[in-house]
Amino acid sequence: MKKANTDFEILPILASRWSPRVFTNDVIKEEELRTMFEAGRWAASSNNLQPWLIIWGIKGTSAFDRIFDCLDEFNQSWAKNAQALFLGGYKKTNDDGKESFHALHDLGLFMGNVSAQAQHMDIALHQMAGVDYKKAMSEFNVPDNYHIATGIAVGYYGGDIEKLPEDLQEEETKTRSRKNQNSFTFNGDFNENIFKGE
Ligand SMILES: Cc1cc2nc3c(=O)[nH]c(=O)nc-3n(C[C@H](O)[C@H](O)[C@H](O)COP(=O)(O)O)c2cc1C
Repeated sequence: MKKANTDFEILPILASRWSPRVFTNDVIKEEELRTMFEAGRWAASSNNLQPWLIIWGIKGTSAFDRIFDCLDEFNQSWAKNAQALFLGGYKKTNDDGKESFHALHDLGLFMGNVSAQAQHMDIALHQMAGVDYKKAMSEFNVPDNYHIATGIAVGYYGGDIEKLPEDLQEEETKTRSRKNQNSFTFNGDFNENIFKGE
């Protein structure tokens, strides 16, 4: 458990969420994934376009192995500990074929819901930018008007950190940190000096 040291009291599921690189051996079932995706399904999206796309696989199945093969080497080194893997993507175009400027934002809202639901179920997500998205798109026949943005490793919190190399063990136990609110919230003009100073 790595509860955030928050400046204000926030929802416990948000304060206690973090991104582990080890998970327990408890199997993740399809119903649990479906529950998480249902939470995502009810996220807000621009014009209710719901541009998100999830490809998922449970450990021991070929979908898991095929997603795993699309992760970069670093992420493969620890994501082998996951009990399920996702690829997260979004549709890049609106129904009129024009570029959708808010689709990545909508995928973020979807994953925020998925993440909150998972936390409620004591399930951890670890999102990954380190994905070969071209390989993933070709492997899973994803059309060109979509983009695969992330991989996501999934499993129950509480895995054995001995499974990780030493440098990652350190990361696993270090205190979570964040920029101060005054570096990114402006009650008026953007202030670059504050922004640079974090
Ligand atoms: C979009 C996104 C991409 C990320 N990519 C990776 C990644 O490729 N590999 C990795 O180990 N962690 C990755 N992370 C995890 C972040 O490093 C982590 O969320 C951040 O350090 C904050 O830690 P916390 O989630 O435990 O609060 C990613 C997180 C997000 C949201």
